[in-house]
Amino acid sequence: MIGPPGAGKGTQAKLLGERLGVPHVSTGDILRAAVAAETPLGRQARRFMDSGRLVPDDVVIGIVDERLRAPDCRRGFILDGFPRTVPQARALDELLAKRGQPLDAVLLIDVPQPALVERLSGRRVCRRCGAMFHTALDGAGACTRCGGELQQRADDREETVLERMEVYARETAPLRDYYARAGLLHAIDGMGTRDEVARRIEASVG
Ligand code: AP5
Repeated sequence: MIGPPGAGKGTQAKLLGERLGVPHVSTGDILRAAVAAETPLGRQARRFMDSGRLVPDDVVIGIVDERLRAPDCRRGFILDGFPRTVPQARALDELLAKRGQPLDAVLLIDVPQPALVERLSGRRVCRRCGAMFHTALDGAGACTRCGGELQQRADDREETVLERMEVYARETAPLRDYYARAGLLHAIDGMGTRDEVARRIEASVG
């Protein structure tokens, strides 16, 4: 699942993973957990993430390689936010070839920039359970799942969002051609409700 910041990758990857019964593997979530736990990886990643830059390829490729070795990934997985550069995509091809588990599809969620900014500025995440909400859709109260406090992500500040958009255009947008050439690309219109987008994904990849 690829697409610009705020396109709804996390939202849709989680729904699709639940529907298919496979784990949702988000490099952003793994990195944020490392930052929160203040591990050496987290300390290294933090300075890149807080300024909206990408964590170096070798670090992220190592994380994904390790995560995909876990038993719950044997039957498949939904990758969210990885790959994000052409070198990451090449590394993923090699890694999956070794596992004999090629990619079935690459879903690119398309959303125009003004809507991305609106989605990111309204995003709130539960401090306790990590559930995600949007102030305009869900209100700004406590987490409806566990009652935990909702907070804004550190990289959702306006100046960091603009940097993330630029990084996306420069580093990640070339993946559209990369996967189109491989015959794997499914471009999904990411506008509309979460359910409408989920239905388009279902219609596109089954
Ligand atoms: P990451 O966590 O992957 O961030 P991102 O790609 O910028 O994407 P977001 O999580 O911001 O948005 P999303 O598309 O998942 O949208 P969401 O579903 O949350 O990465 C963060 C950082 O980690 C990177 O900047 C980088 O530093 C590092 N990193 C991660 N992976 C890396 C990699 N591979 N290589 C190098 N560095 C890496 O939705 C957004 C909001 O919109 C939510 O509030 C949601 O409720 C709402 N929403 C969702 N769908 C809809 C809808 N249909 N209508 C209205 N609102 C909606």
